[in-house]
Amino acid sequence: MILMLFASIIRTDWLRLTMTRTPNVVLDYTPEVAVATRPLYERVSRIIPAFEWPIHAPLVAAINQLKREKNAVILAHNYQTPEIFHCVADIVGDSLALAQKAVATDADVIVLAGVHFMAETAKLLNPDKIVLIPDERAGCSLAESITPEDVRRLRAKHPGVPVVTYVNTSAAVKAECDICCTSGNAVKVVESLGTGEVIFLPDEYLAKYVATQTKVRIITWNGHCEVHERFTGDEVRGYRSGFDGLVVIAHPECPPDVLEAADFVGSTAQMIDFVRTRKPPRVLMVTECSMSDNVAAEVHDVDFVRPCNLCPHMKQITLSNIHSALQTLQPRVEIDPIVAERARLAVERMLAVGR
Ligand code: 13P
Ligand code: SF4
Repeated sequence: MILMLFASIIRTDWLRLTMTRTPNVVLDYTPEVAVATRPLYERVSRIIPAFEWPIHAPLVAAINQLKREKNAVILAHNYQTPEIFHCVADIVGDSLALAQKAVATDADVIVLAGVHFMAETAKLLNPDKIVLIPDERAGCSLAESITPEDVRRLRAKHPGVPVVTYVNTSAAVKAECDICCTSGNAVKVVESLGTGEVIFLPDEYLAKYVATQTKVRIITWNGHCEVHERFTGDEVRGYRSGFDGLVVIAHPECPPDVLEAADFVGSTAQMIDFVRTRKPPRVLMVTECSMSDNVAAEVHDVDFVRPCNLCPHMKQITLSNIHSALQTLQPRVEIDPIVAERARLAVERMLAVGR
C-alpha cells in the first residue's frame, strides 16, 4: 500500500513536470468528455487516481477524434505511461511486435509513441506513409553508443563474420549490418545465420545473455541501456529477502548478475505474457517502471513490487505532444533513401526469421 502511494506520488509529480515542458493545450473537461471517456478510465482506474483523470481525459478524447479524422494509428511501446498505453494506443507491444504490426497497417499516418529508433523502423517498413515521433528528443543510450564508422571498423577487424544489430540502433547503423534482432528473437536470429561466430551489437549485456543460450561465439560491443544497467544482483536479492514468495522476471538488457538472480528472462512482451499466463502471486518486473503500471491495470490478482527506473527518452512522449503531432502532422521521421534501402533489408531479414 505504501509502495502504491509512493508510485502514485511519483506519477503525479512527473505529470506536473511534463505538463510544464510540453506545448500547452487547453482543453476542457466537459460533461461530454467525462461521459465519452468513462469506459477508457475504467481500464486505468486502478493506476490513475480519479483526481488525475480530468487532466488526461480532454486530450484522450481529442486524440481519439484526430485519429479518425486523419486515418492515423498510434503504435505504443510497453514502456509508455498508462494513459497513452491503455487510452489512445491502437497497437501496443515490444519492439518486435511494433515492427511486425507496422507492416500490416493500412493507416495513412503512424504515430510512434516510443523512441526514435522505433519510429525509424516503422518508416523503413512504410516509406510512403507519414510517420510521426511526437518528440524528436526521444532517443536511446544504446542507439547513441555506436556509429556506422564503428561497424565498418568491426567488420574490418573480423572479416567475414556476420553482423547482427539489436533494433535499438539508428537506420544508418542498421544499413551497415546484415540482420536486426530484438530481445524477443535475438537467439533465433543469431542461430539463423548458420555461422560459428557473429558480431552482436550494440548491447553488451544482451549479447552476453545470448551467449549463454547458444553455441555460437558472440563478439560484443560495449553499449548499455542507461535504465537497465542501474539494476544490480544485490538489489534483486534484497527484494527477495524483503518480500516472501517473490518471482523475479528481468529484461535481458540488465547486467549478468541481475539475470542470474532472476527466475525468468525475456523481452517486454515475454515478461507481460509471463505475468498474464502464470499469475505469480507476487512479482518484480526488473525493467522500466511504467510497464508494471500497464500490466497492473489489467492483471488484478498479482502483487507488483515496483522499483522505479524510468526511461527519460520514453517519457518525452506525452498526450500533449501526441495531440500536437496529430494536429500538425509534425515532427516527421525521414530517412535518406540510400541508407533506408540497406537498413530495410536488415529489418526485413529479421521479420522473415520471426519470433
Ligand atoms: P523490447 O524489445 O523488449 O520491448 O525492449 C525494447 C527496449 O528498448 C527495452 O529497453
Ligand atoms: Fe533505450 Fe534503455 Fe530507454 Fe529502452 S529503456 S529505449 S534501451 S534507454
